[in-house]
Amino acid sequence: MTLKVALLGCGNVGSQVARILLDEQAELAARIGATLELTGIAVRNVDAPREGDLPRELFTTDAEGLIDGADVVIELMGGLEPAGTLIKRSLNRGASVVTGNKALLAAQLPDLTAAAHTGGAQLLYEAAVAGAIPILRPIRESLAGDHITKVLGIVNGTTNFILDAMDTHGSQFEDVLAEAQRLGYAEADPTADVAGHDAAAKAALLASLAFHTTFDLENVYCEGITEISADDVAAAADAGMVVKLLAIAEKTTDSSGAEGINVRVHPTLLSRQHPLAAVRGAFNAVFVEAENAGELMFYGQGAGGAPTASAVMGDVVSIARDVAAGGGAAKEAQPRPTRALDIAES
Ligand code: HSE
Repeated sequence: MTLKVALLGCGNVGSQVARILLDEQAELAARIGATLELTGIAVRNVDAPREGDLPRELFTTDAEGLIDGADVVIELMGGLEPAGTLIKRSLNRGASVVTGNKALLAAQLPDLTAAAHTGGAQLLYEAAVAGAIPILRPIRESLAGDHITKVLGIVNGTTNFILDAMDTHGSQFEDVLAEAQRLGYAEADPTADVAGHDAAAKAALLASLAFHTTFDLENVYCEGITEISADDVAAAADAGMVVKLLAIAEKTTDSSGAEGINVRVHPTLLSRQHPLAAVRGAFNAVFVEAENAGELMFYGQGAGGAPTASAVMGDVVSIARDVAAGGGAAKEAQPRPTRALDIAES
């Protein structure tokens, strides 16, 4: 069996995914029981300089034509449009989709999930939160029989890289941001990183999955690191502290006993003894607290082409295995929101 795979986007992550699909086709086929055929890569400009030595004949500007023949669509172009329309079109016609597009997911998860149900397709997005770290699948599946009460962590590699360099080397914000862009950690518009919007989108996704609801991005309190100066970081260091940008999603109960959810992103002073203080560079770490499991901690590379491509490929293999096993794309992979909880005051 051969599964046609369409790739949308060929940036830092897309080029790594294409490399894996081409170089490891035989090994992936042995693991899956089906061959993944990369049928094309949709880009804005086929002649733009890009990483790797990918065959030029794979590139096309016709994204719609490419997805129409695909069994699996990998969306790594980013942005709300045309990514949203292309994903919904793919799902509606039964092609499963793997995406790392946290901004789109945070804005349109119910619509995208509905399209997946309509088409009997899967929508997987492990790469959207915390790069290489398996965090969404554990929350969605491994902890599906527990009650998660809190998710907390560092979920943006760029800002952690910047804060760490300011702390360790006394670097200036702008210099380190340029380095983070060069290393492929930052978003196309790094404002999304430094203003906290990227972490806020990830926090909304974590809250939606952890608490079996739909948490609206607009209700995430969001404060980035743009106001943090080298002097602030040095003052924190003098006091034995470190500044980290944290994303926090937690259940709340008010005085009348009503349950709610509070989700927020903001710079936080941590003692150097705190486990999150040891998260360096572009690494991420996420703590999950659940009633029965207790505390869990997930740690790994939170940004960058190859680490994020690892998460993308995990989803691709998972979908391909289901199809190869005869389950098709109809396997129930989409959590349906089951609860409406109040939004707690920040
Ligand atoms: N710009 C993001 C980050 C990439 O720095 O974490 C991974 O989502």
